[in-house]
Amino acid sequence: MTRVIAVANQKGGAGKSTVTVNLAVALGQAGRRVLVVDVDPQFDTTAMLGYAPEDAPHTLADVFLGESEADDALLTDAAPGVDLLAGDSRMADVELTLVSQVRREEFLAEALTEILPRYDYLVLDCPPNLGLLTVNAFVAADEVLVPVSMIDRNAYKGAATLLSTLDTLRRRRVDVRTLGLLRNNVDPRRNTFQTLDEALPELDAPLLQAQIPMRSSFHDATTEGIPLVLRKPDGRAAQAFRELAAEIEATDARPRKTTDKTMVEVA
Ligand SMILES: Nc1ncnc2c1ncn2[C@@H]1O[C@H](COP(=O)(O)OP(=O)(O)O)[C@@H](O)[C@H]1O
Ligand SMILES: [Mg+2]
Repeated sequence: MTRVIAVANQKGGAGKSTVTVNLAVALGQAGRRVLVVDVDPQFDTTAMLGYAPEDAPHTLADVFLGESEADDALLTDAAPGVDLLAGDSRMADVELTLVSQVRREEFLAEALTEILPRYDYLVLDCPPNLGLLTVNAFVAADEVLVPVSMIDRNAYKGAATLLSTLDTLRRRRVDVRTLGLLRNNVDPRRNTFQTLDEALPELDAPLLQAQIPMRSSFHDATTEGIPLVLRKPDGRAAQAFRELAAEIEATDARPRKTTDKTMVEVA
């Protein structure tokens, strides 16, 4: 059974792309078959795995535009155990054209249906907003993982906004649960960390035990296009991602609904 996890937070810099690639690699190292889907027009996830959109046979934009099936777009073995459905800056235009289409929130879910059974996990990296592409990811997903930057004073409010959006979608029969809040950019000596760390349990969402430390080496990993989990496997940050992968593996995945999981108009 495949678990589809959307990594989302409307705040840029929360660590969505970093978490997507390193979690995917950690799951791949644990022997899982993983597909990363880069939904963000900025395609940071694609770049963090060391690829440009041109390297892929097709991108997610081609899939949305009907120019390719997801199956023909895959960049296989982008990292050990990890395939990639690459992003593309044209996704920004795709989002605009989607607005006027019927079943516009379900496009991604439908496009991924056929390749889904091949994988244990799909990890979807969302854009830094709650627009139509992110909603497509929520509809395609079973679970949402929310990285929270523990150096961002406004992160509590941001997470609360996201959780309330998810509540709204659930009221509209989108079947997606909150996997948890993931503390990222962790430096326990900072006041901002301490304040947030006390406040986050008040939110109506599981707080994951794994915490991703703040490390400048994430930046170098991005520049080189090699996920930190691969680049520095013995470091504390890589260890944290292996703990995150194990924690996620230990949480019960609900069976996917066989019925159409959607839905009336949202957004
Ligand atoms: N734990 C961390 N420690 C240090 N830098 C981090 C950490 N997580 C993310 N970053 C850096 O912060 C920036 C934004 O991260 P990114 O994953 O692109 O966020 P998002 O996808 O949410 O916009 C990147 O330069 C990334 O390398
Ligand atoms: Mg990103």
